[in-house]
Amino acid sequence: MMDGRMRSRVVVSVGMALMLVVAVVRGGDAPGSANADREKRAAHDETHRSPIALALSADGSRLLTANQTAGTVSLVDPAAGKVLDEVKTGDKPAGVAIARDGRRGVVAHWYGYDLAVLDIQGDRIHVAGRVEVGPEPRGVAIAPDGSAAFVAVGVSNEIVRVDLAERKVTGRLAVGREPRGIALTPDGSRLLVGNSRSGDVSIVNVKGWRVERTVPIDGDNLRQVAISADGKIGYIANMRNRKFATTSKNIDLGWVLGQRLTRVPLDPDADTSAPSFATLSLDPQGQAAGDAHGMAVNPSGSLLVVGLGGTHELMIFRTDRKRLPWRDENSRDIMAAELLRNDGRFRRVALGGRPTELAFAPDGKTVYVANYLSDAVQVVDAESAKLVRTIPLGGPKTISLVRRGEMLFHDATRSFNQWYSCNTCHSDGHTNGLDFDTLNDGRQDLSTFHRRSRKKVPTLRRVTLTGPWTWHGWQTGLDDAMVESFTKSMQGRRPSKDEVKAIVAYLGTLDYPRNPYRQPDGTLSAAARRGQDIFRSAKAACSTCHGGPEFTDGKIHTAGLEEPDDAYRGYNPPSLRGLYDKDPYLHDGRSKTLRDALVGPHNPDTVAGGSGELSDQELDDLIAYLKSL
Ligand code: HEC
Ligand code: HEC
Repeated sequence: MMDGRMRSRVVVSVGMALMLVVAVVRGGDAPGSANADREKRAAHDETHRSPIALALSADGSRLLTANQTAGTVSLVDPAAGKVLDEVKTGDKPAGVAIARDGRRGVVAHWYGYDLAVLDIQGDRIHVAGRVEVGPEPRGVAIAPDGSAAFVAVGVSNEIVRVDLAERKVTGRLAVGREPRGIALTPDGSRLLVGNSRSGDVSIVNVKGWRVERTVPIDGDNLRQVAISADGKIGYIANMRNRKFATTSKNIDLGWVLGQRLTRVPLDPDADTSAPSFATLSLDPQGQAAGDAHGMAVNPSGSLLVVGLGGTHELMIFRTDRKRLPWRDENSRDIMAAELLRNDGRFRRVALGGRPTELAFAPDGKTVYVANYLSDAVQVVDAESAKLVRTIPLGGPKTISLVRRGEMLFHDATRSFNQWYSCNTCHSDGHTNGLDFDTLNDGRQDLSTFHRRSRKKVPTLRRVTLTGPWTWHGWQTGLDDAMVESFTKSMQGRRPSKDEVKAIVAYLGTLDYPRNPYRQPDGTLSAAARRGQDIFRSAKAACSTCHGGPEFTDGKIHTAGLEEPDDAYRGYNPPSLRGLYDKDPYLHDGRSKTLRDALVGPHNPDTVAGGSGELSDQELDDLIAYLKSL
């Protein structure tokens, strides 16, 4: 006999199969024969969708998801809980927006560097065109009249304005480091931009096309931003690096890092003596939050919701009964005790997977959740704090080793009292640009005034090829390094052999995007070619240590940055690939720019031992080359 659990599993898989038959994935171009379509669909069913972002039309009848692994956008009828269509759009979609009338959409491709413009007609979407916007675009928004889109371009640190009818870039505006989340006030007059690596938000005056204000928010890893219906308050989901070593005691006190919801007044006429931001700490001691990612506010402002990718949940805050304990221009290390008294102001809903972006339906109580690791859109009733529906977007039925590794990588429950995941520090497999004392250098700083033991978070792109590991390079096995990451950096339980295999398999999939400093055909500029000669010359001697395909010789060198109480002698030359996006530089991040490093602590004279200084021209050329790696 079938027990209840088995029966529901059968029902779910039949439901998924039906759904997959309905959702025919179409390429951007002319549809092929019925046979070709079927083959394409079969192949596509083996691919995870991994929705990282979503957007809802003003009437709530149409929803778009940006599916990062599949490179597609799905069109969903959220009321019917049905996928209507899905189309290939480009390389790693990261942000999506839909026009008010639901007839046009845009999707930004993180690795494709372009924006695809989508036409939505009834139950169908197709790619109407593309616009190159610059390296690593993520967040997008569409003007209320549908005429323009605004894109946050992460590596050029700009907001790019695109005319949607002409499909042309019509403006670029410098903002903070690595802008990601972006939202428009309902009247379209202001843009709120979350700069994830400079810890501030930019408030852009759209008509004047200038940054009106930059507000530091004492936060890091800024993710989804949202704006209240009256356009007066901006909200940002983020994390704060508190800089103490990763001991279980420090973690539990919120002294390593913590999740925050931050609000910023946007009104240009607001009282200038008013606080420039306020925070709500999201970590209940003992059972913390991990990887704050999604944020949405309902039209009346009575409900605020935050999606936690690492702890697989939604946090719901009610604002209409008793005020929330916001703290002005500062933050608590742990969640305020008054929120834990069950008076209805704060609730948690378990969702599984990795909740990413959120949106409120026009009814003001239904929340749609993009769930990356569940390959689904989830529907939560924020009034009753219940998960009411899961809309599967499609994906393979069995979980591969790589996907298991990806799940572990994003799982904050593997850290002490679930405060953070690997992804918190190694954001999206890369770096969040911060430094931490993870005890991996064999030492610990007892105060945050010293930063000798804090190390910059290294990128994990191509990390399987660049042993030995850690900045000192003392770790010669990647499997052993994984045990250290789980037990020291995370203070969590030891991974099993299978788990180590899975996470290493996942790390093996992480690679750099195309280098934006190369010529369109992939070759070096004239300056970079001159720089290459300098790099290889006896005078600069860079290639003696940074040689080979990954620009590291895999050995340990003393290069002038050692300190008397180092537990390990010397450092392993890091790979120089993707340097343009690895700032700040050197093991403790002491150099903000490549130039700072090369005229300062890592100048050829010190490093290679008195071979002479480089001229300004030589330095410019060398940097042009380094950026092209
Ligand atoms: C609190 C932030 C933080 C967390 C969480 C974290 N790491 Fe790290 N990771 C670092 C820092 C900092 C280093 C450099 C440590 C050093 O060299 O002493 C590092 C180093 C590494 C390295 C070596 C990279 C190299 O090029 O040498 C790997 C691999 C790695 N981490 C993987 C992981 C994995 C997998 C997880 C999750 C199980 C994880 N890390 C969790 C901060 C973190
Ligand atoms: C003697 C070996 C050696 C030589 C020669 C050398 N490097 Fe390095 N390089 C290292 C080591 C070791 C580190 C890591 C040092 C640290 O962070 O403490 C490093 C770090 C760097 C970094 C920082 C990378 C990051 O991700 O933060 C850059 C950039 C760099 N080197 C470029 C160069 C250039 C350009 C030259 C030639 C002018 C050069 N190096 C010569 C050994 C060397």
